[in-house]
Amino acid sequence: MKLIELDSLFELEIERIVTGGYGLGHYAGKVVLVPLASPGDRLKVKPYKIHENFCKAEIVEIIKPSPYRITPVCKYFGECGGCDFQHLKYEAQLEAKVGIIRDCLRRIGKIDPPDEIPIIHSDEVFGYRLRAQWHVSLAESKVGYFRRDSNEIVDIEHCPILSPNLQKFLIEMRGRLGSERFSEEKGHIEVVSNETDISVVSDVFKEEARDIRVKVCDNIYFLNARSFFQANRFLLGKLIELAIEGASGTTCLDLYCGVGFFTLPLAKNFKTVVAVEQARESILLAMRSAKAAGLENIKFHSQRVRDFLKQNQEFFDFILIDPPRTGVEKEALESLLKLVPLEICYVSCDPATLARDLRRLCAKYKITSVKAIDMFPQTHHIETVVRLRKI
Ligand SMILES: C[S@@+](CC[C@H](N)C(=O)[O-])C[C@H]1O[C@@H](n2cnc3c(N)ncnc32)[C@H](O)[C@@H]1O
Repeated sequence: MKLIELDSLFELEIERIVTGGYGLGHYAGKVVLVPLASPGDRLKVKPYKIHENFCKAEIVEIIKPSPYRITPVCKYFGECGGCDFQHLKYEAQLEAKVGIIRDCLRRIGKIDPPDEIPIIHSDEVFGYRLRAQWHVSLAESKVGYFRRDSNEIVDIEHCPILSPNLQKFLIEMRGRLGSERFSEEKGHIEVVSNETDISVVSDVFKEEARDIRVKVCDNIYFLNARSFFQANRFLLGKLIELAIEGASGTTCLDLYCGVGFFTLPLAKNFKTVVAVEQARESILLAMRSAKAAGLENIKFHSQRVRDFLKQNQEFFDFILIDPPRTGVEKEALESLLKLVPLEICYVSCDPATLARDLRRLCAKYKITSVKAIDMFPQTHHIETVVRLRKI
């Protein structure tokens, strides 16, 4: 019987892309996960991590390339830990992402995925990011992203997924780091931009994150580099449409509301909206945007969702949930099962935690639609919007 050993070499056929963006193949009765692979690749690989039921291996040689392979645009691809799908044709990226959602629903959620999961593509697949986090080391004169599976910085001059305004700022920043004195040797920089302005916050230089404005459809949002904002400037309006289409009524609850991205449009469809967010600064920005829009039917709560739901058990027609990557806290899910609104919309940037939470929610709700929207081209990340109805 063949055994898989660290640093041994073997040939592998990639069957499909799975969670985490890995290409999956089988060897010696084990699942083998390979980063930066493409379905249909015939590869020579070398294991770098061996677990009981699977191993991770890196590509040593592409023996026969998959028909979905293309030449990556970025010169840092493979080294930089940011993009991991640039070697795939865009259609294959979309197909892989729908496959990842299906796989998570089945394996983690124990849910039969719908026959069709529509995916909205991004009109532009480069130059889309209006938000970024860069790592800085002054001693090494480096600004960029972490290397794959490491905390080592890859020095980046040009990142093709950044918006033109952010790319311009990256070059400016590199010049500043070479010529000014800063308070810390190592740290990171958070940036968010619109077409003309930049908001920046960093532990390397002390600069007040200024508020900027972003217009989406007829809503204007105040935000800054300390607050969360959706990353793909080409899909902001479509994401709102997907999440709230057809939703209207008397009462609505917007959980994990950030700077009010969904709250503002929801306030136009419901008599009252209650919005909950733990980051106080985001709530203040959301209140400012609501005031500027003349919306007086929103009650904002700067609180953890878990604590809010423990104290408030009133009925809502519609609940929108848009948690961080870690998903909804366990206690919050239990409270949601007691609230039983007519409809829930779950917006998620992590199919695995989404599937875990849906498994619980399906005790009282039925999934009516699963749709995907490609907020993160060139990476395995995907935004999923699931609508549920009370059984
Ligand atoms: C994925 S973002 C969504 C924000 C907003 N819905 C949007 O689309 O811009 C998740 C938000 O949840 C907030 N958050 C994280 N954990 C939380 C918790 N336990 N309770 C309340 N808010 C939380 C974060 O500060 C962040 O603003």
